[in-house]
Amino acid sequence: MIPKVRKAVFPAAGLGTRFLPATKAQPKEMLPLVDKPLIQYGVEEAIHSGVQNIIIVTGRNKSSIEDHFDVSFELESLLEDKGKTDLLKLVREISELIDVAYVRQKEALGLGHAVLRARDLVGTEPFAVVLSDDVIHSEKPCLAQLLDVYQYFGASVVALLEVPEQAIPAYGIVDAEPIAHNGVNDRVYRIRNMVEKPKPEAAPSRLAIIGRYVLTPEIFGSIEAIDPGAGGEIQLTDALKHLLRSRPIYGLRFEGKRYDAGDKLGFLQATVEYALRREDMGGPFREYLKSLDLG
Ligand code: G1P
Repeated sequence: MIPKVRKAVFPAAGLGTRFLPATKAQPKEMLPLVDKPLIQYGVEEAIHSGVQNIIIVTGRNKSSIEDHFDVSFELESLLEDKGKTDLLKLVREISELIDVAYVRQKEALGLGHAVLRARDLVGTEPFAVVLSDDVIHSEKPCLAQLLDVYQYFGASVVALLEVPEQAIPAYGIVDAEPIAHNGVNDRVYRIRNMVEKPKPEAAPSRLAIIGRYVLTPEIFGSIEAIDPGAGGEIQLTDALKHLLRSRPIYGLRFEGKRYDAGDKLGFLQATVEYALRREDMGGPFREYLKSLDLG
């Protein structure tokens, strides 16, 4: 029997340097996309994919993340006194979403290192990793799509997206061959190799790893076994490459639209498109955009 994925790890200890100065005193995971912090989109995606436990790996300046998912007595009683029941419901829903556990990554030593910090809380079961600055809009949650592939093979799975050549140095890039999955899906790949942040000329393909992973617990041993890689950091991609020596790893070109909300332009694009999709403001916002003279 293939064990169920019950836990999702959210690395959130990065320095957010691509978004300075907004991230000087505030984690990038708390930047609001319309009116919800980025990390809440990721947490909701995990919940809608069947995950039961959230583990957030935090660093300095991260207390606002803990406060966000915690009960806010003062705010709740104020809203109650003022009879603002809609807002009260909204605020309560967040702390009632799911139980969140926290572990601290004292130094930002890389994504692999952050994931390793969650080892005691994850234990020896398969788990998901969600990078909340990759925001994905899709009919079926991206993580749920990955979990289907995991359930079929019982092996680790990473999310894949074809990126333009000039974007290659920002990603982990895979060498992968498409395989028939259930005979119909042409989106599943078996990974042969991977490399973190290569130069375009050294990249094996244009298929980039996007921030959704389903990992089997052997990954922890691989993270411990590797040396620092790109940027002097302990890279999750390098650990996956190490794991490939003993286990198969699959990739899924997921269905949906992904935004790089950790980047200023990507964040603006996400903001505009998420606002346009909103029932309560999509109409007036569309009218406003149409009124702009962009010539
Ligand atoms: C991380 C991973 C990289 C992956 C990317 C997806 O990089 O190391 O392999 O392609 O997330 O967003 P980062 O964006 O943290 O530099």
